[in-house]
Amino acid sequence: MTDAPALLKIENLTTVFGGLKALSEVSLEIVPGQAIGLVGPNGSGKTTLVNTVCGLYRPASGRVILEGIDITGHRPHSIARAGINRTFQIPKPFKDLSVYENVKVSSIHSRNHAPIEEVLARVNLREFANHPISELTAAQQKRLDLARAVALEPKVIFVDELAAGLTPGELHEVAEMLKEFQALGIALIVVEHLMGFLEQVVASVLVLSAGRTIFAGPLRNALADEEVKRVFLGGESDAGN
Ligand SMILES: Nc1ncnc2c1ncn2[C@@H]1O[C@H](COP(=O)(O)OP(=O)(O)OP(=O)(O)O)[C@@H](O)[C@H]1O
Ligand SMILES: [Mg+2]
Repeated sequence: MTDAPALLKIENLTTVFGGLKALSEVSLEIVPGQAIGLVGPNGSGKTTLVNTVCGLYRPASGRVILEGIDITGHRPHSIARAGINRTFQIPKPFKDLSVYENVKVSSIHSRNHAPIEEVLARVNLREFANHPISELTAAQQKRLDLARAVALEPKVIFVDELAAGLTPGELHEVAEMLKEFQALGIALIVVEHLMGFLEQVVASVLVLSAGRTIFAGPLRNALADEEVKRVFLGGESDAGN
């Protein structure tokens, strides 16, 4: 693929909830500016991977290495400060704050205090800076969530189902934004069910089923892979051990 040293290395990450192994020995490497899709049926462990890497859950085993430094089990704010940020499957803006203020709150923890106007411009929300959150459409709220992630000047962003519920036009707009982030050197791990959207953004994917990796490689090969097809067409939905 590429000879650049890995920016983020996830090694054999395992996360357990009670008796449920939601994530089982999952590994992934990404270099600056690369975009990898993270795919799998409902309950296959995608968000658990995001939450474990970002420090919300402590892994039972495995390691998370950012630029050669082991950050496994560090607190979420320290992982965010180190350069890994994420969007939420369901955005959680501060509802009483304006668009500008929401991004400002995130940027406080950035190293260089990213200029808010610039961040808003990157997600086409500049003219909404002083608007209350309640005036944003669902698509705009998703872009605000992306702005909040970018305001921390991350090296890696996990994008958790940003595309759900967007129109084809809105999807294309978001895909173009993600490509611009890549051009800035930001690595993206894109959790997504919509293949048409993924095709616009990523060349390779990691496919999870019941917490395990069942495929890692080019997206077009994944679509032809027998096990991937079986898992998706079989409607499997529960993580197991
Ligand atoms: N905090 C938690 N406590 C207990 N079980 C959890 C927790 N978070 C997730 N799980 C379980 O872990 C498994 C994986 O869930 P996860 O949310 O990672 O799936 P997902 O791939 O993101 O699914 P979706 O596509 O629906 O978002 C599921 O069985 C889920 O019920
Ligand atoms: Mg999820």
